Amino acid sequence: MSRIRVAVLISGRGSNMATLIRAATDPAYPAEIVLVLSNVAEAPGLGIARAADIETATITPRGFSSREDFERTVDAELRRHDVELVCLAGFMRLLSPWFCERWAGRLINIHPSLLPEFRGLDTHARALAAGVGRHGCSVHFVVPEVDAGEVILQAAVPVVDGDTPETLAARVLDAEHDLYPKALSIVASDLRTRAEA
Ligand code: GRF
Repeated sequence: MSRIRVAVLISGRGSNMATLIRAATDPAYPAEIVLVLSNVAEAPGLGIARAADIETATITPRGFSSREDFERTVDAELRRHDVELVCLAGFMRLLSPWFCERWAGRLINIHPSLLPEFRGLDTHARALAAGVGRHGCSVHFVVPEVDAGEVILQAAVPVVDGDTPETLAARVLDAEHDLYPKALSIVASDLRTRAEA
């Protein structure tokens, strides 16, 4: 059976990207990672992708006169690789309505909170400040409004006495690494079923 061609967009460490690459080494997994694209030239994740023989591209916004020009270049790179589905994994740039609509239903993100709680940045510190007993992560479709798209899968972790933003982030990150490959599998299987129908 054919596999869905996936690009992963990163800006940094790339630990979630690495779990997607690892999951896709199983030929039975419904997605293959055909491109890792970074908007930051020094992103450590690029080295991980190259070591796994995945094609990489760097497109930094600096060279472009507008957000639209930057995104059109990203979009062209995705099309050049016949990408069918895009995974954001620590991609630290807001995407315009134009891009979100162009990839609607084919653009997913992992966010470190139990959405709709704690959209945006600094989720772990905010969860601790709010005194919640559980926190977690969500994989969701991307829409123009930040962290507001339909949730595909979530995983919860406990908040424990003495947690700092760092200890909580580490617990959530472990859950993210388990969650993202499962969520990608669901979305890719669904796209494949629809393509073959
Ligand atoms: C993760 O916590 C993810 O949820 C958030 O950014 C972080 C990226 O980490 N969107 P990594 O680059 O995948 O290691």
